[in-house]
Amino acid sequence: MRVLSGIQPTGRFHWGNYFGAIRQYIDLQQEHDGYYFIANLHALTTIRDSAQLQQLTRDAAIDLLALGLDPEKATLFIQSDVPEVSQLTWILMTGTPMGLLERCHAYKEKKARGVPADAGLFTYPVLMSADILAYDANWVPVGQDQVQHIEVCRDLATSFNHHFGEAFVLPEARVLDEAAKVPGTDGEKMSKSYDNIIGLFEDEKASRKKIMRIQTDSRPMEDPKDPETDHLFQLFRLMADGPAIEEMAALYRQGGFGYGHVKKAVAEVADAYFADARARRAEFENRPSTVDDILNAGAARARETAAAVLDRVESACGIKAPA
Ligand code: TYM
Repeated sequence: MRVLSGIQPTGRFHWGNYFGAIRQYIDLQQEHDGYYFIANLHALTTIRDSAQLQQLTRDAAIDLLALGLDPEKATLFIQSDVPEVSQLTWILMTGTPMGLLERCHAYKEKKARGVPADAGLFTYPVLMSADILAYDANWVPVGQDQVQHIEVCRDLATSFNHHFGEAFVLPEARVLDEAAKVPGTDGEKMSKSYDNIIGLFEDEKASRKKIMRIQTDSRPMEDPKDPETDHLFQLFRLMADGPAIEEMAALYRQGGFGYGHVKKAVAEVADAYFADARARRAEFENRPSTVDDILNAGAARARETAAAVLDRVESACGIKAPA
């Protein structure tokens, strides 16, 4: 299977990004043909400072490598290094109904929060569709919040295929049940824009502080509690091993514990879980030319694939004479 996903460098990565998406990239690279990219064109809808965007893009590449993305197995690249995607975006844009984009939650939500809407934000799902379709991707590992965008992508591809013949492969979203919507420090979806994130590579002390401040309910300590409905337990479960999870779940059901105990346990499993990645990150940070080589090789491979797809699509719709 061809697996593809993208991640925006709009800030440093957090637990939601890792458990919802990045962990899947790494698992799937073992047996499938993975294409993973840093979505700097999408990030331009939010980050309007050139030095910051450069730095965050670079950090994102190093983070992914440190977390285990293996350039021998998967293709890692920067979105804007493949201009074919922007060409494909325009072609798709011509067949995109306004109503389809108006219904997208991510856009509606940002608008509701008073984020000024520009055409880039509004047409964001079309660029995302081009990202996916340009590489003939079969599976797209993402968190729940991106599923609607993948539905948009399928709609656009189906309508193009219907009109011009079978030019596009239809992709499918891959969402992990247990990490579809990783909660943040307030119990809502962890998200940079909600200011409730715990960063993957932030200073250990700072992240411990955030963990200790995770909001909890005010039920008495002695009450038995259902672990399944508790966001702190949800976080613990993502990082702990089987017996520790069982033990913690039993403690919840029995009652008589404080949330402070669970928070400490979350902080400890998190430190252990990300210790190797932290060490690898420091190594990559010291080898900038290795990172450049990986990204250049990834871009070259990605371009080759996207150019072949664009050629097929341009021939199908009459931009180019058929081969
Ligand atoms: P982005 O950068 O917001 O998020 C990257 C990935 O992290 C997942 N995610 C979460 N999963 C579970 N729980 C959470 N709290 C959480 N927060 C974030 C997201 O679902 C996503 O998978 N539009 C995309 C980037 C993109 C893309 C693509 C993705 C651009 N082109 C093509 C797939 C295919 C985005 O903004 O993700």
